[in-house]
Amino acid sequence: MKYNDINFNNTTILITGGAGFIGSNLAFYFQEHFPKAQIVIFDCFRSEEVFSNGNLKSFGHYKNLIGFHGDIICGNLNSITDMERLQKYNFDYIFHEAAISDTRVYDQEIIMQTNVNSFYTLLDMAKTMQATLVYASSAATYGSQPSPQTVGKENPENPYGFSKYAMDQIAYRYIDENPEMTIVGLKYFNVYGAREFFKDKTASTIIQFGHQILRGKAPRLFEGSDTIVRDFVYIKDVIQANIKACNAKKSGVYNVGTSKPRSFQDIADILQKELGTDYGTDYFPNPFTGYQMHTQADISSTKKFLGYTPEWELEEGIKDYLPEIKRLYDEEVNI
Ligand SMILES: NC(=O)c1ccc[n+]([C@@H]2O[C@H](COP(=O)([O-])OP(=O)(O)OC[C@H]3O[C@@H](n4cnc5c(N)ncnc54)[C@H](O)[C@@H]3O)[C@@H](O)[C@H]2O)c1
Repeated sequence: MKYNDINFNNTTILITGGAGFIGSNLAFYFQEHFPKAQIVIFDCFRSEEVFSNGNLKSFGHYKNLIGFHGDIICGNLNSITDMERLQKYNFDYIFHEAAISDTRVYDQEIIMQTNVNSFYTLLDMAKTMQATLVYASSAATYGSQPSPQTVGKENPENPYGFSKYAMDQIAYRYIDENPEMTIVGLKYFNVYGAREFFKDKTASTIIQFGHQILRGKAPRLFEGSDTIVRDFVYIKDVIQANIKACNAKKSGVYNVGTSKPRSFQDIADILQKELGTDYGTDYFPNPFTGYQMHTQADISSTKKFLGYTPEWELEEGIKDYLPEIKRLYDEEVNI
């Protein structure tokens, strides 16, 4: 589905983080709908290095890009030499998704270096090339601010959330100084959908519960999961927001969610209904203190200035995603 009148054919598009979840979905969206677009992916993929929490340092995976025909540059945001390889292009659009996306990495130095330092370079590149820049911010900038979370009322509570908050502050200043540019930050809430599997433990609970059920087990949920709610947003709505950001009425930072929070218990119940199982629920105590109990994106400005309208209710999103959850179970999990 095309979300607006922009013809991306014959344009040059950079997608940083294009081997990751959201970036690879963007790449295939453009490839499918605009076959004459030149699409360039910049991503460091994954090595075997891990952070102290045991998670991989980056989640990019070649399997997210099987079938992609554009340019791929394996490069690191932290390498000036790697970033310079992008200078040979003349980008019309830059979608900046690359980041340390793991909210439970607490090494402030590496998060700030990776997520923030590179942002200056990309802003300058967008300015020189007169490119539209759409970048990934995050609902993590809100910390435990009460619902509905509203742009301008952030209070990050971890280094990852702070890094995205810092990017937003830099973007606001850049927008002020360069009113001719289109710069849009998108604060994604909890995104789920195809190509998130390789985020391992940081993938959404939708695929994690789905695979537990397919294994013949009751889904494992925190006690009280019927009262813990999140604004879950389907990847297709996230793509819509990115495309619509390209002709935003106003540069700025916008929430991307559905504004219809749902509980973790709802997810488990919908999955069991769709899969025809009745395994009940395996509850265990929530090990986290200060756990966010309720998120709900205030999307009024996203609607007004981007023309964004979420199209996927949780039930429909899960139903659409389920064949892929099953395929991954057969091909990647149950082997
Ligand atoms: N998925 C969500 O629910 C969600 C929510 C809020 C914000 N975000 C943000 O959206 C963006 C995309 O998230 P995602 O879910 O696709 O995560 P992801 O981890 O799948 O994608 C990020 C990509 O960036 C790459 N990367 C990491 N460090 C890099 C580096 N130093 N140099 C080059 N590439 C590097 C990774 O290899 C990966 O492919 C991220 O900026 C993330 O913080 C995601």
